Formats: sequence, structure tokens, C-alpha cells
Amino acid sequence: MELERLELEGFRNYVRQAADFDPRCNVICGENAQGKTNLLEAIVYLSRGRSPRARTDREMLGFEAESARLLALVRSRGRSFRVQADLFRGRRRRLLVNQVPLKTGAALGDVYHTVLFQPEDLYLIREGAAARRRFMDTALCQLRPRYAAALAGYERAREQKTRILRDFGERPDLLAALPEFNEQMIRLGAALIHYRHRFCLRLGEYAAVHHRECSGGREHLEIRYQTVSSVQDPGGEPGRLAEELRTHMAAHREAELASRLCLSGPHKDDLLVTIDGREAKTYSSQGQTRTAALALKLAEREIYKNAAGEYPVLLLDDVLSELDPRRQEFVLNRIAGGQVFITCCEEDRLPSLLGGKVFHVERGTIRQ
Ligand SMILES: Nc1ncnc2c1ncn2[C@@H]1O[C@H](COP(=O)(O)OP(=O)(O)OP(=O)(O)O)[C@@H](O)[C@H]1O
Ligand SMILES: [Mg+2]
Repeated sequence: MELERLELEGFRNYVRQAADFDPRCNVICGENAQGKTNLLEAIVYLSRGRSPRARTDREMLGFEAESARLLALVRSRGRSFRVQADLFRGRRRRLLVNQVPLKTGAALGDVYHTVLFQPEDLYLIREGAAARRRFMDTALCQLRPRYAAALAGYERAREQKTRILRDFGERPDLLAALPEFNEQMIRLGAALIHYRHRFCLRLGEYAAVHHRECSGGREHLEIRYQTVSSVQDPGGEPGRLAEELRTHMAAHREAELASRLCLSGPHKDDLLVTIDGREAKTYSSQGQTRTAALALKLAEREIYKNAAGEYPVLLLDDVLSELDPRRQEFVLNRIAGGQVFITCCEEDRLPSLLGGKVFHVERGTIRQ
């Protein structure tokens, strides 16, 4: 997949700009607050119908603008697409692909796909399990519609169970419904474990390769899926997984009733990330953290490529700072395959770019 051209009008600090991109690497340079992240935001918006940071479409309209137009010319599956989004101050946005209106933003996923790395993604390594679970869930939901359905069903059952556990003191009759929701969580939870296990195996393989290359062969990254303790083998039969989850839930029944909380289950799953055998969350340096988070994103891109047959467009926002020249060189020149966009502040201190284009962004203007 390739973004050939982008046109922006009335979008954030871009009054009216257009740029033609390289099929390989595009480096977007500029000082702070010039519009680099805004540019990536526009590219992501056109691939998902959703901004990675704005809560409302209105936020993205230029301060002086009544409406905004974002237009991308995209090559994907051997065809050309014209993806357009029109945003307005007072009414609903409009999405068009080749002039045909779309009902939902999700339908854009059929045209082209982006993988975004933003500074917040360091949470993937640094923070608690929730960030890593969200990463896994987001990727899997895009890849496997059945997973998305199982996850939605599991979360609904868990909400019901949480409500029962919270309120049964005043209304003991609620407890009668508990076994039904437990059983739903067991059945759907087994499906989640099944998919997550397989996803993590592949994720770990790819991420280890990228991390090793980025660190010049010096570091070994490992990713291990961690689920509820009663599950002996997350790669086992779904029927067996369900049996293990049932035993697990029964063992926690008393504690859940006493604490009034839905304690243990796949909703507490995690990915254990280690570098040279030590937990990255606790021991990794800033550069290692960045490298590991990047390796995870690159692995996600690889998995997507296997499923879709084409690399998605990779967007790296501010990934180069804190990396030593060897690791920067890897990011600029050795991320093989697919189109890449990289933002950075100082071009002169970077290793030279072997193939691609460099753009300079200054107060909402783009120069090549
Ligand atoms: N709706 C908007 N209309 C006009 N300008 C906006 C709007 N939203 C944000 N901006 C401005 O856009 C400017 C550039 O923001 P952006 O996040 O793209 O900077 P950046 O180049 O990525 O900088 P940094 O290197 O600090 O990350 C900011 O100064 C911000 O005030
Ligand atoms: Mg930025």
C-alpha cells in the first residue's frame, strides 16, 4: 500500500498544502509545533476515519476554517483510490472513496491501512498490562472479525457480572443470573485465549528479529503471553481451555463474592516483554524501551502483511530521538518493505537517508 499524494485544506495549521510522497521512506523534518504530527494525523484519519488524538472532528478544523478537506491518492491491491474526508463545523463529516460516500469510517480499512507509532506507545513497554492488552486487542480485532465478536461478547458478560457482584447485597435475587454470565465468560474467554496465544507467538517471532537487527545483534527480545494461572497450555484445545477456565472461576467464587469484584480471567491477560531475559518494564533503558516498542509495531505490520498480502503504511512519530546512530540508521534505511513516514526535529544530526524523500515542515507549509 502506498500513499502517493496528500492534499490538505483547512486542516489544523495547514491552510492549503499538497505533497507527493516516495514509495519508500519519507522523512518529515521540522522544529517543534510546525505541523509534523498534524500531517501524520491526517494520514491516519484517512485510513481509519478516526483521529489517533482528537476527540471530535471539530478539533481538527483550522482555527479560522469553517470546513476542512483531506484527500489522499492511494495505491492498494494494484488499484488507485481517491480517499476524501470533508469536515464541517456544524454538521457531520463526509467520507468518500472514488467519489462514493461511505457509511462508516471502518469501511476505509478495506482501502488502505496504517500502523502508527507515537511517543505514547512507549507505554506498551513501560506501563501496566492494560496498555499491552489494548495493543493485542486492537490488532486482533482488525485481523479477525471473530475475535472482535468474542471480545465484545466477553466484555458484555463481564459488565453484567460486575453489576451483579456490586449489587447483590441489596438484591440477592440477582445471584440467580450469575452462572449464566460465568458460562458466557468461560466460553468466550477460551476463544480469546486461543487467538491471543497464536497472535503472540507470531508477534514474538517477528519482534525478536526486528529488535535484534535494530540493536546491531546485541539484544534478544522475547514476548510471552500470560493468561490465567489455571491454564496449562494456552495453545490447547478450546474445549480444554474452557474446562480450565471453569475450574479457575470456581476456585475464585468465594473471593469474588467477598470482594464484590470480578477478579481473575482473560481480562487480566498480559504480554511479558523481556530483553536478554530481564523484564523490559522494569529494567530497559530509554533507547531499549523505544527499540522494543518499535519492534512490536513492526511485528504488527508484518502480521498484517501476511493477512492482507501488502504492507500497511508505517508512520513513526518522533521515534528517532533517544536512539543512537546505529539504531537511527536501522529506522531510516533498514526497515525493509512498505512505505514509511518518519518525523524528526533535526535532520543534520541524522545518518543519511539512502532512498526516499526529505520534507521540511514550517508553520503549516511543506517543502521537499
Ligand atoms: N485546529 C487547529 N488549527 C490550527 N492550528 C492547530 C490546530 N490544532 C493544533 N494546531 C497547531 O498546530 C501546531 C503544530 O502541531 P503538531 O503537533 O503537528 O507539531 P509538531 O510539528 O509535531 O511538533 P513537535 O515536534 O513538538 O511534536 C501547534 O502549534 C498547534 O497549536
Ligand atoms: Mg509532534
